[in-house]
Amino acid sequence: MYEATVSAPVNIACIKYWGKRDTKLILPTNSSLSVTLDQDHLRSTTTSRVDESFEKGDRLWLNGKEETVKEDGRLGVCIKELRNWRKIEEDKNSSLPKLSQWPLRIASYNNFPTAAGLASSASGLAALVASLAKLYELPQSPSELSLIARQGSGSACRSLFGGYVAWREGSKEDGSDSLAEQVASREDWPEMRALICVVSDLKKGTSSTSGMQRTVETSTLLKERLNIVPGRMEEISKTIKSKDFENFAKITMKDSNSFHSVCLDTSPPIFYLNDVSKSIIQVIEELNRSSGEIIAAYTFDAGPNAVIYSLEKNIGKVLGVINKFFPQAEESKDPFKTKSEDLPESF
Ligand code: PMV
Repeated sequence: MYEATVSAPVNIACIKYWGKRDTKLILPTNSSLSVTLDQDHLRSTTTSRVDESFEKGDRLWLNGKEETVKEDGRLGVCIKELRNWRKIEEDKNSSLPKLSQWPLRIASYNNFPTAAGLASSASGLAALVASLAKLYELPQSPSELSLIARQGSGSACRSLFGGYVAWREGSKEDGSDSLAEQVASREDWPEMRALICVVSDLKKGTSSTSGMQRTVETSTLLKERLNIVPGRMEEISKTIKSKDFENFAKITMKDSNSFHSVCLDTSPPIFYLNDVSKSIIQVIEELNRSSGEIIAAYTFDAGPNAVIYSLEKNIGKVLGVINKFFPQAEESKDPFKTKSEDLPESF
């Protein structure tokens, strides 16, 4: 039996991906840019195995529960493409074991709430692609692997890199230039901190897939947004390279608000923010105003949870106001308690 385990972190976009121009290949209507969160709390860990003796058919467990792998589904497509790449290597070198012909067993765990707008699909699909690439000993670069991860879940392509990562929308119809690349590493701006405020860990109401489709079909504001994003991509990359937090924060907050406005302009409208989320926005805006400079930036994905970016020197102040206005119940103080990561019994 051959086995490989890889873990991948969550990434949180500062410039949001929202809308597909090709739903099958997952080609976005705009480029996006995210920060990969490199702490241990928000990760997916995937173990992949192959063996000649496994019964026919690939099998997958997500957080211990078996899920069906549909051949033409997103997971199935990722597995098929990576298998093809392995087959190419086996054809080039006949001494390689024929792993591409053997059934797969894949087990993946998230150490945080799944599908609560905490980008679990991003880390999950990135970990899956990276673990298969390791198992198959593929020579492809992370950017090339991002072409596959993208087809599993768009934002997953960004989780194959650490630091600050851009997903370039690309212009080719076959999607071969719609890939992720690192803009700057974590070490280039080590003072950056991300504070995750779990407002709710319930599964979100509207999935990103159906939400995006509805937005593309019905929002007129989306067209406006698509004219603005290319400039923002340029500007935010510059702020990262020059460690200009003030402008990084301005763009991040503006783009989060633009994304949620587009959701509201969708018919029927999509509400991801709740009253607590909106209060967090007000508290951060007030903190920045009273500080006389911008020291924190909020951003929200497809759910009510906030991610607040701040520099290390200011994170204590940010935590202070968050704890003051949103005191936590004792039992919810550590929503990221790592769950059991034992592999499923039948794995
Ligand atoms: O990759 P998906 O289908 O989970 O969509 C992600 C969409 C947002 O999280 C809202 C934005 C982003 O760029 O991550």
